[in-house]
Amino acid sequence: MKIDILTIFPEMFEGFLKTSIIKRAIQNNFVDIQIHDIRKYSKDPHKKVDDYGYGGGKGMVLMPQPIFDAVSDLKKENTKVILMTPQGKTYNQKLAYDLALEKHLILICGHYEGFDERIRTLADLEISIGDYILTGGELASMVITDSITRLIDGVIEKDSHLNDSFNNNLLDYPVYTKPVNFKGMKVPDVLLSGHHANIKKYREEMALEKTKQRRPDLLEKGEKNE
Ligand code: ADE
Repeated sequence: MKIDILTIFPEMFEGFLKTSIIKRAIQNNFVDIQIHDIRKYSKDPHKKVDDYGYGGGKGMVLMPQPIFDAVSDLKKENTKVILMTPQGKTYNQKLAYDLALEKHLILICGHYEGFDERIRTLADLEISIGDYILTGGELASMVITDSITRLIDGVIEKDSHLNDSFNNNLLDYPVYTKPVNFKGMKVPDVLLSGHHANIKKYREEMALEKTKQRRPDLLEKGEKNE
């Protein structure tokens, strides 16, 4: 899987690419993540990438030329181009699974007050990571890259993500580690019993109970995270 990210703030990605599971996935060639500075594609003598919006209004608007040229440079036959925007489809685990099957993604990060409407014509899909406004699409692109990368075969043990919250519309069951007794709070006996069938049953019950209490809307949906 290859992910190309277009941004005017490439430095925001430095820690992200050098940490934990993402770092390992890159080192082990499960994913190739490239950050591209949109400015490099600007044909303006001062490498300008934004300007005032026609018709007035506050803020600067990202210009189409650098982004059109970047996409044209990077796009291949199997590429899916995705625009980060609060106006997009709301991201969820089902979409993460779908995108993890793609060969090549280009993620475009918008910034400032927005981007020229014509940039939308480049996108196969627009994604929002939730109903709130970020200062730009960079964090959204990291959320998407992170959630997809961990689903690529071999990046983490399959068992780990098959039991994630939101699979089968259930939140995750509770987990415990050492010590058995911490400040009077004890690990449930069944987890210490070594009885695998009982442990499985307990976990299923707890996942259902937690979901009923915290996210009954997930159970009402009835189908997988649509
Ligand atoms: N850019 C600004 N806010 C965003 C959001 N919520 N999701 C995706 N991109 C964004």
